[in-house]
Amino acid sequence: MRDAAPQTIYLKDYTPFGYTVEEVHLTFDLAPSATRVTSRIRFAPTPEAVDKTFFLHGENLSLISAKIDGEAVKPNPTDQGLTCDVPNVPFTWEAEVQIDPAANTALEGLYQSNGMYCTQCEAEGFRKITYYPDRPDVMSVFTVRINGPHPVLLSNGNPVASGDGWAEWHDPWPKPAYLFALVAGELVAHRDTFETMEGRKVDLALHVRAGDEGKCAFGMQALKDSMKWDEDVYGRAYDLDVFNIVAVDDFNMGAMENKGLNIFNASAVLASPETSTDSNFERIEAIIAHEYFHNWTGNRITCRDWFQLCLKEGLTVFRDSQFTADMRSEPVKRISDVIVLRAHQFPEDQGPLAHPVRPESFQEINNFYTATVYEKGAEVIRMLKTLVGDAGYKTALDLYFERHDGDAATIEDWLAVFEEATGRDLTQFKRWYSQAGTPRVAVSDSFEDGTYTLSFAQHTPPSSATPDPQAQVIPIAVGLLSPDGDEVMPTQILELTQDSQSFSFPGLSAKPVPSILRGCSAPVELEHTPDNAFLLAHDTDPFNRWEAARNLAKASLLGTITGGTAPDGGWLDGVAGLLSDDTLDPAYRGYVFAMPGQSQLAADLHQAGTTPDPDAIWAASEVHRKALADRMADVLPDLYARHQVDAPYAPDAAQAGQRALGNTVLSLLSLLDGGDAAQAQFDGATNMTQQLAALAYLIRAGRGDAALAQFEAQWKHDRLVMDKWFGLQVIEADPDDAADTAKALTLHPDFNWKNPNRFRATLGTFSGHHAGFHAKDGSGYTLLADWLIKLDPVNPQTTARMCSAFQTWRRYDAIRQSMIGKELERIAAAPNLSRDTTEMITRIRE
Ligand code: ARG
Ligand code: ZN
Repeated sequence: MRDAAPQTIYLKDYTPFGYTVEEVHLTFDLAPSATRVTSRIRFAPTPEAVDKTFFLHGENLSLISAKIDGEAVKPNPTDQGLTCDVPNVPFTWEAEVQIDPAANTALEGLYQSNGMYCTQCEAEGFRKITYYPDRPDVMSVFTVRINGPHPVLLSNGNPVASGDGWAEWHDPWPKPAYLFALVAGELVAHRDTFETMEGRKVDLALHVRAGDEGKCAFGMQALKDSMKWDEDVYGRAYDLDVFNIVAVDDFNMGAMENKGLNIFNASAVLASPETSTDSNFERIEAIIAHEYFHNWTGNRITCRDWFQLCLKEGLTVFRDSQFTADMRSEPVKRISDVIVLRAHQFPEDQGPLAHPVRPESFQEINNFYTATVYEKGAEVIRMLKTLVGDAGYKTALDLYFERHDGDAATIEDWLAVFEEATGRDLTQFKRWYSQAGTPRVAVSDSFEDGTYTLSFAQHTPPSSATPDPQAQVIPIAVGLLSPDGDEVMPTQILELTQDSQSFSFPGLSAKPVPSILRGCSAPVELEHTPDNAFLLAHDTDPFNRWEAARNLAKASLLGTITGGTAPDGGWLDGVAGLLSDDTLDPAYRGYVFAMPGQSQLAADLHQAGTTPDPDAIWAASEVHRKALADRMADVLPDLYARHQVDAPYAPDAAQAGQRALGNTVLSLLSLLDGGDAAQAQFDGATNMTQQLAALAYLIRAGRGDAALAQFEAQWKHDRLVMDKWFGLQVIEADPDDAADTAKALTLHPDFNWKNPNRFRATLGTFSGHHAGFHAKDGSGYTLLADWLIKLDPVNPQTTARMCSAFQTWRRYDAIRQSMIGKELERIAAAPNLSRDTTEMITRIRE
């Protein structure tokens, strides 16, 4: 039961729970519509507690019985749980509740997916399993007994005993309830072992549905690589005798780090060369690492309250990005992370959903698993490391683990270890956690008597989250090149702390060319017109060299969009040169070619004071692709031939880079040969990376029908591949057809809209088709709103998340704004709209 008026929770109101939980015993008697959960929990009042209210969270529970120290009690129900009179000495609470996993379509708490039981408790799902103080600062040791007729019965920690129809688990590590997990079903295990640096032999298992056994090997290897890496780089070893991973078809997010029992969206763990692309492999490796790394940054050290979410998520994203950089290519990983940051975090930070990395209030915490908390949270840690240096970072992290192991910690605790370990005052730096908005940094320079001076001025646009932003600490990595292209000053970190500040470099014989914000050393936007053609040719920093190509592409595209000018010859020459330069990593060259996304161009136009026209942006992007294909027509066939992989498929960075570049070249070739080469690649493809890319280019060339039908016939039994089939048709549709294509797909017999992966593959992909979603007649807005209204009662979390498609609405023209405004109003007026979606729509409309 929920309050009619949603309640706002504030960071400043934090108070500890008045009781400690000494131990928790749970018994599950599984039945699809009537699962019984019996709890026996030992509570002890905290002597110093100010608030002694004994409140236990609980939602959608039928209370069968409650006892204290063996005596029946009658608790008082409240909106979101119960209160009860309890003794002022330690006592045992026992409750029996009944829940309905089969009816749980929200996929939060205990639910069923294809007949298998599984759980998702972060952030506040445990309260849908039993009455409990469901808050991250209440940590306890759990013992769990599962009774059910399933061959596989799993929970957290180590197995204690099991028999026919039951199993018992014990987790010795105190944990908050959000890390609880249970799985029961008919699953097949892919097993391996790992010996930790402390000599502990760990049994590893990846549990999947029958039929998916062939998709486990890569994930298992990624797990072992992650375990080793965390030992080598952070000195952190695993701490249980078993580590279980389960793949689930119906899951709201990517995956979840439950102690000793990680639960994954099947799409984030299952992989095979025939069914997964190279990007799928890389993403899976990163997510496995992410969840595994949470064992220390999240589980052993957890969060005091949900406002501190970035404490575990920002740090764990940063750690998984370091891992991927080590396993693959550091510059390529950095470029792809920055693309994601700019595509997802910047719009959030610059629109109505802006919030600080550590928010100060929320209505529904599930709405704050955002790009800001995750990605900007990781950027903040990256900056911290840049400022204190590698050695300072290591000392601080060692101190963090030593001091806070077993704690539910805060950002203050985190910053304190850095201050102590390095002697640095982080008072001003802390603004990165408390202020919303993307800082903008204007750059100017001068040269006189051999001294070069760089001047910076920072400005963060105010927002309702942060009406009066103050100057931040911005580490700006700068290198200087001489006019003939040699580096005269290798990278230095300039610390911008004032509103405006200058830095001088004496002893130069000529005015240098600066390379600014190398490696994207801070999540800011530069106001600066660099010498892009020069930097593209000469910069030693791979990130800024890519950035130069991107800047040239952007300027050229914006020229076409606003002034109808032809694609810039300088951009064409520069990019064509790099594409053919075999001394450069193929994966990197693939990124140098990739043009800025259409939504990004809309943001740039808006920033420059021009109302973006989605059709003009689409058209300009097409013209640019074609111009590049024409410019390179002579070399494309040979380039394509030289980037085919003869060796047996391996999902490693080297092969993936070859295929990425080969496919980039094929996309250009397809603009010239009508799709013949793409058809040949499709017909001969032996892996999904080649098959899917070829299919995309055939659709673009207007001859995809036969291949689409063939692909469907080949893969209709495979849920994850069919998600690609749904998504690809939508994203490759022409703008005029995109809404109709998506709509037609929702009528396909395999469009199971209650499955979040399928819903996202269709409607989520559609909302990412810039020109299609923003079609002039408003059909895109109506289509998405219809489906959000339909999904909300079934799955509020996934619905709320997808509302963010509307967050950029104020960028567009008055007619589009009014159409979107009406759709937002229509969603807001839907009867019984969830707290999740209500909060999102309210904030977006603000
Ligand atoms: N902690 C999980 C992860 O980052 C995500 C859980 C998200 N849960 C949610 N309710 N939004 O790996
Ligand atoms: Zn995480």
